[in-house]
Amino acid sequence: MADKKAQLIIEGAAPVELPILSGTMGPDVIDVRSLTNQGVFTFDPGFMSTAACESKITFIDGDKGILMHRGYPIEQLAEKSDYLEVCYALLYGELPTAEQKATFTAQITGHTMMHEQMKSFLNGFRRDAHPMAVMCGLVGALSAFYHDSLDNNNPKHRELSAIRLIAKMPTMAAMCYKYSIGQPIMYPRNNLGYAENFLHMMFNTPSDVQPVNPVLAKAMDRIFILHADHEQNASTSTVRLTGSTGANPFACIAAGIAALWGPAHGGANEAVLTMLDEIGSVENIEKFIAKAKDKNDPFKLMGFGHRVYKNFDPRAKVMKQTCDEVLSELGINDPKLELAMKLEEIARNDPYFQERNLYPNVDFYSGIILKAIGIPTSMFTVIFALARTAGWIAQWKEMYAGGYKIGRPRQIYTGHTQRDYTPINERG
Ligand code: CMC
Repeated sequence: MADKKAQLIIEGAAPVELPILSGTMGPDVIDVRSLTNQGVFTFDPGFMSTAACESKITFIDGDKGILMHRGYPIEQLAEKSDYLEVCYALLYGELPTAEQKATFTAQITGHTMMHEQMKSFLNGFRRDAHPMAVMCGLVGALSAFYHDSLDNNNPKHRELSAIRLIAKMPTMAAMCYKYSIGQPIMYPRNNLGYAENFLHMMFNTPSDVQPVNPVLAKAMDRIFILHADHEQNASTSTVRLTGSTGANPFACIAAGIAALWGPAHGGANEAVLTMLDEIGSVENIEKFIAKAKDKNDPFKLMGFGHRVYKNFDPRAKVMKQTCDEVLSELGINDPKLELAMKLEEIARNDPYFQERNLYPNVDFYSGIILKAIGIPTSMFTVIFALARTAGWIAQWKEMYAGGYKIGRPRQIYTGHTQRDYTPINERG
């Protein structure tokens, strides 16, 4: 793996030879692990130039707009697969055979219910709490309810926790929503598909159980697939970093949810709709584009730009197509879609966005679909978290199976040098 070498010249010292590692795809990587022996280390805030792990799960080529899980292009998975199959591939490395799929589906459906006591825990939250705040709490609390599977060194426990998390996320997400609107919580129905069951728990009531529209269930499933994993993004890195301390998987996923919440990450889908509301109509687009370009204004065009994709986000293309399908099925003529398309057109023809390679990302159109399905804006990021749980837990499992070191970045210290303590009456 390390045939080539790089040489680092530090002024006044002998050259340092550093191995160059190659993956199966993607750029070569200079292995700087031995640098601390030379009394120096590297500086890379934002990890723009740093790989923190080896992984076989997801590959992204940001320049070419490629995203693959276990080698399968996202476009093929979105078109031909379903979310549980993608979960299986993320967790075990291969797409399942028919028998493996049936077993995996039975395992998941066998764990969809929550411990009844979780309802009392949920009742402690204010009904107007943001569902992401509730989700951080509920998922973190799972470790208090399911402590029969918390030995991280036991592969069977890791397996069981992964299954429980994927199975229970839709139930918890729907519980949050039902609680916020004061409706009774709906129990899962194990004869329904994964996305179908989620929509059942979200929108049915005990007094009125209607079949779920298959087009909407399919669209929901596709949204789950498109968000299932995205290699070492901020929340996944948070899950790995938390996991590297030996913390239990439920605590790690709660940490991932907290990281995802930010508007620069998973919170962007909610922020896109808020932004479209603020823009209001096509005439105001230019004003908002000018704001986004103004260095003195913190406003950014939500749903635009990506740390890795500098060409286009392949998920955004599939999302746009799904958006068209859902709106046509529901016969919705949403003026927000027209506004979003016009905004995209204007931004993509603007030199500011062109020069910086800023394209619509996965979140630009997902909000319009979710809104059409009837999902309230405050639940958008919860849906992202629900879907990303598969990727987070697959990455966590991979880290454990492969051996790991506690994550401990270094710093350049720029504070005071040593000085003596001054008594309070001598300060000022
Ligand atoms: N609107 C206006 N300008 C932008 C935007 C934007 N959305 N995104 C980046 N820029 C500018 C940025 O100001 C900078 O300009 P300059 O070179 O003149 O200083 C340049 O483009 C490079 O951007 P950056 O901030 O250095 O890029 P980054 O890789 O650090 O940030 C990002 C990536 C996704 C955080 C950022 O593009 C952003 O905040 N986008 C809006 C939020 C969003 O849609 N996030 C969802 C990301 S996809 C889903 C997910 O991963 O969770």
